[in-house]
Amino acid sequence: MSDKNIIRTTAGAPWVSNQDSKSAGPRGPLLLENYQLIEKLAHQNRERIPERTVHAKGYGAHGTLTITKDITKYSCASIFSKVGKKTDMFLRASTVAGERGAADAERDVRGWALKFYTDDGNWDLVGNNTPVFFIRDPIKFPDFIHTQKRHPRTNMRSATAAWDFWSLSPESLHQVTILMSDRGIPKGIRNMNGYGSHTYSLWNAKGERFWVKFHFKTQQGHEFYTNEEAAQVVAGNRESTQEDLYENIEKGNFPKWTFYIQVMEEEEAERVNFNPFDVTKVWSHKDYPLIEVGELELNRNPDDYFSEVEQASFSPSNIVPGIGFSPDKMLQGRIFAYADAHRYRVGTHYESLPINRPKIAVKNYHLDGAMRFDAPKRGDGDYYEPNSFGGPVEDKAAMEPPLRVSGDATYYDHRSDGDDFAQPRALYNLFDDAQKQRLYNNIAGAMAGVPQNIIDRQLGLFEKIDPAYAEGVRKALKG
Ligand code: HEM
Repeated sequence: MSDKNIIRTTAGAPWVSNQDSKSAGPRGPLLLENYQLIEKLAHQNRERIPERTVHAKGYGAHGTLTITKDITKYSCASIFSKVGKKTDMFLRASTVAGERGAADAERDVRGWALKFYTDDGNWDLVGNNTPVFFIRDPIKFPDFIHTQKRHPRTNMRSATAAWDFWSLSPESLHQVTILMSDRGIPKGIRNMNGYGSHTYSLWNAKGERFWVKFHFKTQQGHEFYTNEEAAQVVAGNRESTQEDLYENIEKGNFPKWTFYIQVMEEEEAERVNFNPFDVTKVWSHKDYPLIEVGELELNRNPDDYFSEVEQASFSPSNIVPGIGFSPDKMLQGRIFAYADAHRYRVGTHYESLPINRPKIAVKNYHLDGAMRFDAPKRGDGDYYEPNSFGGPVEDKAAMEPPLRVSGDATYYDHRSDGDDFAQPRALYNLFDDAQKQRLYNNIAGAMAGVPQNIIDRQLGLFEKIDPAYAEGVRKALKG
């Protein structure tokens, strides 16, 4: 067999000319039989896949999670099984609203998607650099995203749509305040925290369930750009975050985060005076202190951006025994949305691609579909169940403890138990005067061109957080 370093067609034939096409005479038309030319142009036509509908601009890196503290009393997940345990992982961080070519240093939430290749399958934690989100019901998500993307007629981003939606959705106040604060433009992903945001659950070997929040605190320190600094950065470099991450990893300056959890006992959720499954709320660190779990380190750049970062497919539905969901309505919606997006964006067998493939052997009874490339060796009894030929069987040991549910099924007003003002007020009160002034200026800047009735409605919401908040924005709008 030839191992010459030559180009070959996808079918393996030597590629005889890669500089000149085959023509009928030196100045004549090209020939249809020049199958290398046809293959090359046809392949190029298929080089792009649809970009993610949200979080299209992203940066990836491989890394390691090392467990530093024992949390086996909360979870039997193999990833937490002993102190010192190391698990390979892949991170993709992103901005949300811009397209794949968007500039990095823009005011936006940052995505924080982690895939842990555990001994028991992949655990994906798909969160953000914020502990809360804009809405608390998944049925509002497509509308919310429409307000962040381009206006269908003008093909431009619309501040009017964004503030119209936010001013009609008071549950967004907490996240809007974070977004408009210094945290809204992190210098790069090395300088921000990551959060699972939702409440998830952990369950232990005794079958006890705990509600949990996941936190990753940067060890590089928080750093941010002001609007003015960001404008300068973008003018000179649209890939500031990508460059910062890539170059630091190449230099061996590996970024690290300390991994913590907050824990609430299962029954406690019924007693607390807030809804612990509401993603617009944080849990008090005083009542639910951070418990250290481990350290996350990013230590290897991808070799090929497309196959590793663009085709990486993260889904909140990827959990493993010992880790579970919660009744958070948004999380429940996301359990459907992501795998559905991957089947469309990447293809039926997206989980078999190297970046998504679990590091353990996977057997199941799924058959066929476009581009089945893993070529399983087939025998009797591995394409239907039950069978008499020793095919793989279910594993009841992996079943999570039963969850008690109650109530009538109906369309509950998701605002009815909401206090949308107390937590943003607590956050606002943490800001010093300079931070508050930047918050007012950032909001006023982002409101340029928005009709006065929408601005007034939003000022009414800021007023309920603190009259000084509304007044500060009002003055910044005039100034
Ligand atoms: C990406 C849907 C809420 C974080 C995506 C994608 C979809 C989606 C369809 C693109 C997936 C792909 O093509 O690979 C939704 C829906 C939501 C929701 C329906 C609400 C019901 C959230 C929340 C967070 C979040 C609350 C964070 C706490 C992310 C991240 C990505 C993403 C980080 C990018 C993942 C990557 O890097 O590939 N979302 N999302 N989303 N979403 Fe959401």
